[in-house]
Amino acid sequence: MESKFYIETWGCQMNAEDSEKLSGMLKKLNYTSTENKDEADLIIFNTCCVRENAELKVFGNLGVLRKLKAKNPNLIITVCGCMMQENKMAEDIKKRFPFVDIIMGTHNIQMFPSYLKEVKESRKSILEIWDKEEDIIEGLPIDRESKIKAFVTIMYGCNNFCTYCIVPYVRGRERSRKPSDIEAEIKKLVGEGYKEVTLLGQNVNSYGKGLEEEINFAGLLRRINKIEGLHRIRFMTSHPKDLTDDVIKAVAECDKVCEHIHLPVQSGSSEIMKKMNRHYDRDYYMSLIKKIKEQVKDVAITTDIIVGFPGETEKDFEDTLSLVEEVRYDSAFTFLYSIREGTPAAKLPSQIPEDVKHERFNRLVEAVNRICAEKNKEYEGKVVEILVEGKSKNNDGKLMGRTRTGKLVNFIGSEDAIGKLINVKITKAQSFSLVGEEI
Ligand code: 5AD
Ligand code: SF4
Repeated sequence: MESKFYIETWGCQMNAEDSEKLSGMLKKLNYTSTENKDEADLIIFNTCCVRENAELKVFGNLGVLRKLKAKNPNLIITVCGCMMQENKMAEDIKKRFPFVDIIMGTHNIQMFPSYLKEVKESRKSILEIWDKEEDIIEGLPIDRESKIKAFVTIMYGCNNFCTYCIVPYVRGRERSRKPSDIEAEIKKLVGEGYKEVTLLGQNVNSYGKGLEEEINFAGLLRRINKIEGLHRIRFMTSHPKDLTDDVIKAVAECDKVCEHIHLPVQSGSSEIMKKMNRHYDRDYYMSLIKKIKEQVKDVAITTDIIVGFPGETEKDFEDTLSLVEEVRYDSAFTFLYSIREGTPAAKLPSQIPEDVKHERFNRLVEAVNRICAEKNKEYEGKVVEILVEGKSKNNDGKLMGRTRTGKLVNFIGSEDAIGKLINVKITKAQSFSLVGEEI
């Protein structure tokens, strides 16, 4: 009888890609995937630790597995991902949830097939976390979720040590993949029919450091832009301190690079930016925004913002609000500051009370959503190119796709448009998406 696996993934695209790799390895071992935990022979939780909420969800979900394991003692449970790289977390999980069979970190997922074999043979549990990142391992099988658009990691890790952030501690130092490996992967994807790639990294703008071949991110964009048959190139995330004129120029000039830049600002107050160790101030950030808008026609700009960083005054928060009004983001991910043990900001004295954080958060979300809706309204009546990704999630018989600027469009059209680039006339703007019809 064939074995079935179930993977639950929390967190960012990096984790999503790791899950696609785990899934790729398992399919090579003749496992098939299932959406139903109850019928799984193997359950994997790929965890995130960027905010406390993400961790609480993992604890809650692990508790529920206790019963499943009691019902089916042959069930193999694996916990992996960023949370496991935190100090003492893996041991803690082992103690609280002794029924977990395999605990591994972010640096050793390539070992998973051998851990699985060992557990099956010996029925003993495995806890193995590697402290340090290894050299990049190329060629792991990858079972991608979409057949139309693919995420391609171009660099791993982060060297920035923003004072609130745990990522550099759990994902290790920056390492760039060789351009030839990236190019070969994308050419293969195009051969399989993929139309769009998103180049991934914690800070794609510092791509290329430490490689033998001299190349920077702008150079990589230009190189990938030449790949025939590829239609769209996206990338994330950009750090403002490393977003050079060269990159902006490459975005403007490369026809396949989409007009969308995700540029996390984190706060609108220069004082807080400094305390966050972001290496830029408000004026510098705004000068970047001005350059991007001038050079990249009809560009969409999105961001990440943290509310309630330690020491944030009402005035600092108002600076964030005014920056949002000035930039007019197409959308923004907004977060409540979450204390992460082991990061410098966790030790800062003036932590903001939860009620103040929430009150500011609500004001910020109001501004972000209002501007997002206004920006969507500008699309009404326009004809836009969209890459059709599949059926609409609303179950209303419509199809869905995205504009080059990343806007979600639900539209009436024929199913053979799936996987194709088509023109759609926007008939109505909604708060977070657009409605259109094929023309
Ligand atoms: N608390 C809240 N938000 C955080 N982020 C990173 N660390 C924290 C934290 N401790 C946010 C940042 C980052 C995004 C991926 O998560 O905005 O850009
Ligand atoms: Fe975290 Fe800053 Fe690195 Fe982003 S750039 S992963 S926020 S340390």
